[in-house]
Amino acid sequence: MNNDALMEKLVALCKRRGFIFPGSEIYGGLTGTWDYGPLGALLKQNIKQEWWKSMVQLRSDVVGVDAAIMMNPEVWKASGHLEAFTDPLVECMACHSRFRADKKEEIEIHEKTHNEKVEWTNPKKFNLLVEAKLGVIEGEKQTVYLRGEITQGVFVNFENVVSSTRVKIPFGIAQIGKAFRNEITPGNFTYRSREFEQMELEFFVRPEDKEGNKWFDYWKKERMSWYVSLGFNKEKLRFRKHEDDERAHYAKFAEDIEYDAPFGWSEFEGIHHRGDWDLSRHKLSYTDENGEKLVPWVIETSGGVDRSLLFFLLDSYKDDPSTSSGQARTVLKLHPRLAPYKVAVFPLLANKEELVKKAQGIYNDLKPQFMTAWDARGNIGKRYLSQDEAGTPWCVTVDFQTLEDDTVTVRDRDTAKQERVKIERLAGYISNKLS
Ligand code: GAP
Repeated sequence: MNNDALMEKLVALCKRRGFIFPGSEIYGGLTGTWDYGPLGALLKQNIKQEWWKSMVQLRSDVVGVDAAIMMNPEVWKASGHLEAFTDPLVECMACHSRFRADKKEEIEIHEKTHNEKVEWTNPKKFNLLVEAKLGVIEGEKQTVYLRGEITQGVFVNFENVVSSTRVKIPFGIAQIGKAFRNEITPGNFTYRSREFEQMELEFFVRPEDKEGNKWFDYWKKERMSWYVSLGFNKEKLRFRKHEDDERAHYAKFAEDIEYDAPFGWSEFEGIHHRGDWDLSRHKLSYTDENGEKLVPWVIETSGGVDRSLLFFLLDSYKDDPSTSSGQARTVLKLHPRLAPYKVAVFPLLANKEELVKKAQGIYNDLKPQFMTAWDARGNIGKRYLSQDEAGTPWCVTVDFQTLEDDTVTVRDRDTAKQERVKIERLAGYISNKLS
């Protein structure tokens, strides 16, 4: 399948099955915003849960916070974002469309749409922070900025966290939350949005080159292994070092994790060595157990929830021309821990009361433990196909044999093979596979 076709098919599946909808669609949409539907909301929650588990729950050197989206504008002045959080903007003199000067491919595509040679304005710095007005008196409202990165909420709470917990350097503060950017050209589905979610770790280390480099390498490995452990095809992932002219204003050095997307290799997580940029700018420091005052360096891992969700979907999307039943199908081979529903329960025939009753009993028993779907529409083959498209790893069918020996068939999404399992063992069977 070529790249355009894959992207088109995935966007269509997201809409049809309720993963992702255009934002404010019934009013003509709002560029750069997306709404997650019933399946998308579950997938997003699962990605965040897995991230939090690995970055906070399973570690003794990381704690989590959840800071406000709106912050005192002084924060953005101190952090350098008011001055330096910019992209170079150019305008086509013929049609006044605006583009990022550093996105050469997008510029070339635009030039091809005009017959004559396109004249461009000189690049000017365009600040990406989104403004909002806060207050109750017209004319006296305060200009605030929706956070352009969730990160600053961690730094402004650095002292609060140190004094309210027992963290000792080296330690990390993790956070997941919304960020907003006035992107010049939102595009590639959810890839470049104006509202999106980040999952970030700020890891504080002693201000020494050896320490900084050691932890930078450590977090690079950790983050890459996390993505691979959740099923990404290794061949489609790579690191890319930032060139000097593309590094953010706060970074000493940086590397991205990129995915081989249909629209080219694309960043979805950055590992940044922020040095003492942020703590120094906020005039913050740390006193160690010997009473020595220091300004720690920060190694940051900054991942995009929406971008990783898009790439998890692209990576797991398969058109399978021949299942064991001979039927073609589309299947999302998502890692079971990410799959929106873990299991679906069906009665073989919807008009046989005993089968429906038995299946409903199983559905009610599984539901408190796992996201469980119910389907009694159409024939069994269609129900399997529908669950394959939703990425549900296991389908449980109650048939006539169930009424005799209390076993059900469990059909595996990836192999389409079925096995019989005792009803009393069903929850354990699913738990084992998820662990
Ligand atoms: N705190 C550092 C920081 O924000 P970044 O490289 O600007 O670094 C980190 O952003 C991650 O946030 C990106 O790798 C990407 O996954 C996500 N991200 C950034 N801009 C985005 C956008 N316009 N739409 C969707 N995700 C975005």
